[in-house]
Amino acid sequence: MVAVAALIVAAGSGERAGGPTPKQFRLVSGKPLLAWAADVFANHPGVDRLQFVIGRGQEALFRQCLPSALKNSQAVPGGATRQESVRNGLLALDQTAPEFVLIHDAARPLVCPALITRVIDALRANSDAAIPMLQVTDTLRRRTPAGTWAAIEREGLFRAQTPQGFRFAAIRNAHLQLADRSLTDDMAVAERAGLRVVPVQGEELNLKITVDGDFSMAEQLLAGRADLRTGAGYDVHRFAPGDHVWIGGIRIAHDRAAEGHSDADVALHALTDAVLGAIGAGDIGQHFPPSDPQWKGAASSRFLEHAVLLAKERGGTIAHCDITVICEAPKIGPHRDAIRARIAEIIGIAVERVNVKATTTEGLGFTGRKEGIAAHAVATVRF
Ligand code: CTP
Ligand code: MG
Repeated sequence: MVAVAALIVAAGSGERAGGPTPKQFRLVSGKPLLAWAADVFANHPGVDRLQFVIGRGQEALFRQCLPSALKNSQAVPGGATRQESVRNGLLALDQTAPEFVLIHDAARPLVCPALITRVIDALRANSDAAIPMLQVTDTLRRRTPAGTWAAIEREGLFRAQTPQGFRFAAIRNAHLQLADRSLTDDMAVAERAGLRVVPVQGEELNLKITVDGDFSMAEQLLAGRADLRTGAGYDVHRFAPGDHVWIGGIRIAHDRAAEGHSDADVALHALTDAVLGAIGAGDIGQHFPPSDPQWKGAASSRFLEHAVLLAKERGGTIAHCDITVICEAPKIGPHRDAIRARIAEIIGIAVERVNVKATTTEGLGFTGRKEGIAAHAVATVRF
């Protein structure tokens, strides 16, 4: 039996935020807004099931935005108001019949696991509804039609946030019985149905993205919270007779070739290992064994693409990478910009997030004797 379901509503049109794409699909720190909250609920040990509500015709957009691990999540179409969207989502959960449901706005990407735990704990302590609340601390004024500013007594005023937690059957029935369709949260619905509501401490940082400026505020807050992981990679290829080498996905004319099973692109191999290192996924040899004939002559961009896909599946995005190519020749400088652009293209990030350096070893060692070429790489993945 499913004890706790999270119902994430994302069927709004984001009028106040503006822009061509509804706000829930816009990127925040490189990740769609909707995916932030989805990840937090999916990773919470107390949440057993996710149910989404999305706008009509937005199924494809929604699937693109979902982290790969959540690709099979259920989504139903929403309605004209938030309340109707929630109702549709609750009905979609009828089959599942969870004991509790946590109803959350996709527009709150900064929801934290501790808040979810507080809401679940309050429900388990035998309440019908548990609502995150925050005391209002600003001085409040109401603009009157006459253009004056009327004072509002702040004492006893609170702001309600999401996730709002409910006993599933109680809030489902409350929604079905209610004729008024304009309530902006589910606490209001619960109260009309006479449910017993308890407050839990809300989170000041659990911002709801409403207007355009909220996006940059959320990015600043998320930057402080980011889980950054770094991986290192190193690779060497021996020189053999030939007339070109592949370095960083670029074919460079040379009087030697790099020997290897694939296209022997030392820079992409080191970088692939760096990405795999950052996500704890072993090394390139485990994913693409040299013994496997399908990788014979393969373009190394495929290896890097695969590592990036694995990172995405784990909820990571490549924040930055830095590569050092070590050889006496060919000279890398003239190709540096092309290599950066190609790597940025393979990974799918801005070129500013890719750096390429090169060095000789002053004639020393195997690279100095021009017997081979080496590369180091470092990749940073943000989760
Ligand atoms: N929502 C919904 N269905 C609606 C309206 C809103 O699922 N018909 C969702 C939104 O997607 C959002 C949450 O309810 O996650 C809170 O609503 P709000 O912040 O008001 O978002 P929008 O309605 O999209 O924005 P606006 O009011 O500015 O148009
Ligand atoms: Mg709205």
